[in-house]
Amino acid sequence: MTIPTELDLTDATTFVRHDAYEFWRDVRKSRPVYWHQGDPGFWVVARHADVLACYSDVRSLSSARGTVLDVLLSGGDSAGGKMLAVTDRPRHRELRNLMLRAFSPRVLGAVEQKIWERTSRLIKTVTGQGGFDFAAEVAEHIPMNTICDLLSIPEADREKLLRWNKLALSSHDAESDRLDSLEARNEIIGYFMDLARHRRGDPGDDVISMIATAEVGDRPLTLEEVALNCYSLVLGGDESSRVSAICAVKTFAEHPAQWRALREGSAAIDTAVEEVLRWATPAMHFARTVTRDMEIGGRRVRAGDIVTLWNTSANNDEEVFDQPRRFDPARSPNKHLSFGHGPHFCVGAFLGRTELRALLSALTESVSEIEVCGKPTPIYSNFLNGYGSLPVAFR
Ligand code: HEM
Repeated sequence: MTIPTELDLTDATTFVRHDAYEFWRDVRKSRPVYWHQGDPGFWVVARHADVLACYSDVRSLSSARGTVLDVLLSGGDSAGGKMLAVTDRPRHRELRNLMLRAFSPRVLGAVEQKIWERTSRLIKTVTGQGGFDFAAEVAEHIPMNTICDLLSIPEADREKLLRWNKLALSSHDAESDRLDSLEARNEIIGYFMDLARHRRGDPGDDVISMIATAEVGDRPLTLEEVALNCYSLVLGGDESSRVSAICAVKTFAEHPAQWRALREGSAAIDTAVEEVLRWATPAMHFARTVTRDMEIGGRRVRAGDIVTLWNTSANNDEEVFDQPRRFDPARSPNKHLSFGHGPHFCVGAFLGRTELRALLSALTESVSEIEVCGKPTPIYSNFLNGYGSLPVAFR
């Protein structure tokens, strides 16, 4: 792999073809905030301190036009102002309070228990059976089922939701079609609108019924808003958790001494979970739009500019992490930004962490050796980091 001095951060193949870690190390040192040429161009923010400050500054940096570079470059997010992640204050705070009710201890307790049961069952099934694709046999079945448990989605509908979501978000091959992706997104929203309509008419004791019948501000949400906010849980929680699980297994397979340390208890599961999240950095960047002229890291940025915050660089910043390219499951403290920071901090962080905790616990209980036995398939994306398949054997 080459170490480039310039990378096209809009190109989905960039992160598969290049060693981005070396690139980001150079950027942090020589031009920590820089203007990326393009039509339109955008700012790139690479240092941990600057990324953190940008996440916190929701007055000057808006999420409402979209928070993913591709979306911003192609005109903005049509869900702006309606869906939690792409809404600004004061509406964001009201919506977030409503969504947080979906994550009540009562609901989470039940969902958490199912995560542990499902993960343990899946790991037992694949252990000792020879080579298999960890992504297809295990990782795919955990996050989407978790979100479906949270939303009380019927079992029969889950597979098609997973299929649509894969199409909607990531590109598992370089040629994946944008139209397929748009169509899949519409299918998901249509599905949730039907469900919202149904549950609003006949509410039950579940999260969609709660969102569909609640008032935010001085009115109930429209069916589209209910659907978009259910979708935001799928968008936020499926692929990010899936690639984290895949990264966890791949990384421990590549670091057998660290795997032994985890099994023997000299590294704790909780610190290992945080290190996996740092190492994986599933969402490589998030983006904002500047609302008023300001400075970021000493550079003048103007209202209307797009700013991209590179978690993947911040999580490897030598100013914050000692030997960032060392995978250390006992690392503590570990101030990674994989869940973002500030008012938009991931609402699913508890579930994301629980899924990884359950996975590492199940693995340490039944697997002594993890072997990668084929070539993993990289995901072609400038947003989602990781692999779509991982051939392994658990012994
Ligand atoms: C927000 C990452 C799991 C739902 C975010 C943000 C990040 C993130 C970085 C901040 C985005 C921003 O500032 O613009 C992750 C990672 C996960 C994960 C790495 C797994 C390892 C989940 C899960 C759910 C979820 C399981 C749902 C069940 C959301 C939602 C938001 C969000 C709805 C928007 C919050 C807001 O704007 O107030 N996530 N997430 N995420 N995440 Fe997650």
